[in-house]
Amino acid sequence: MGEAVGALFSGQHWLDPYPLYDAIRSCGPLVRVDERFWVASGYAAADAILRDPRMLVPDRELAGLQGVDSAEEAVLGDSMLRANPPDHTRMRRLAAGAFTARRLAGMRAAVTEQATTLARYLAHLAKRGDAFDVVTEFAYPLPIRVICTLLGVPATDQHWFREQAHALTEVLEPALLVTDVDEAVRARSRLGLYFTDLVQARRRQPAEDLVTALTQAHDADGTTLSASELIANLVLLLVAGFETTTNLIGNGLAVLLERPDLAAALRANPALAPSFVEEVLRWDSPVQLTTRWCREPVEIHGVRLEPYSQVLVLLGAGNRDPARYPDPHVFDPTREAIAPLSFGAGGHYCLGAALARMEAQVAFPLLLQALPRLALVAPPLRRPRLTLRGFVEIPVAG
Ligand code: HEM
Repeated sequence: MGEAVGALFSGQHWLDPYPLYDAIRSCGPLVRVDERFWVASGYAAADAILRDPRMLVPDRELAGLQGVDSAEEAVLGDSMLRANPPDHTRMRRLAAGAFTARRLAGMRAAVTEQATTLARYLAHLAKRGDAFDVVTEFAYPLPIRVICTLLGVPATDQHWFREQAHALTEVLEPALLVTDVDEAVRARSRLGLYFTDLVQARRRQPAEDLVTALTQAHDADGTTLSASELIANLVLLLVAGFETTTNLIGNGLAVLLERPDLAAALRANPALAPSFVEEVLRWDSPVQLTTRWCREPVEIHGVRLEPYSQVLVLLGAGNRDPARYPDPHVFDPTREAIAPLSFGAGGHYCLGAALARMEAQVAFPLLLQALPRLALVAPPLRRPRLTLRGFVEIPVAG
């Protein structure tokens, strides 16, 4: 067991971690690796861990207990993703209040418009007979334009954001896979300064965007959101909101390019998009893992976790659990009630899940219709990362 988990962290299996997940799950859905380190790889066990309020996200207290200078804490500390109740409850309520259903519904038209503009340009390239990389030209720009529109970040800064987010999200990888922690910390500080300026600008001139909404919440009562929490959550929304969605679109496009039958069906009937998107989320989750720890002893899923135990929750393994999904390795968009673990579960369930789903549901049929002959011209290239699973490049022609 220890060996299998070691192999997972070594980075040898990032290309295809699924056989290793099966090996880990065959030892049990929730198993001990050493005295205070556990791995959840079964669907029900992972779901139970994520939903249990006694299981905490890594926070400043844990970093202090471990006595290490956690890069993750430096980069994501003060944000809701690294906070537990009562701080988490307070921040989450505020952000959710600014992230209203009305604002989301209004985003659908913006998503369709952005996707149409990008797809038209690609159709033009295809007509000229040019090959292009559909990650760089579509899967990246669409989510970044959408999240920047939502936050109220000027379009001219979007390219710079891609570079910063790419550097910053490295801290989410298992330590051995992180190649440049310092660059992640520098990117966090550059983004922090950027948002500090943008917050000042929105104070002078409010706009219909999330930066204004969160800034006003902060200013209305300084105790609801401290200045550093305001900036940390804006940075979180930016990076959580686009890199993951880029990978959802890229992973789905890779499936469609390998399976022309599915592409033809979706092109002809866009109403199939929601179930296709759920199956992409399950089959190749853009976020593969997360972690939890407990302060007290916790009896859960038939085991007892001692105080200060940590659990590695393998979302991507739970999504391929044969006890939950028949023939889990088969991509089958006709499955019912898929409910993958890809957006987490419980108190930290992804705040942007509805937005990400909507973007992907709009994007796939639209791109397929604009490019009726879309096909691979070379094998897609995976990104060498485990936690955020996606492609660097998918070379195509239309
Ligand atoms: C396919 C796209 C996405 C995936 C797979 C994804 C996945 C996740 C997961 C697994 C978590 C929970 C982590 C944990 O429990 O430890 C999470 C949390 C979060 N996500 Fe997403 N996400 C996506 C898109 C988005 C978007 C578009 C936004 C924002 C616009 C967003 C904002 C957030 C935030 C703010 C949290 C923290 C919630 C909290 O701590 O209460 N995500 N996401």
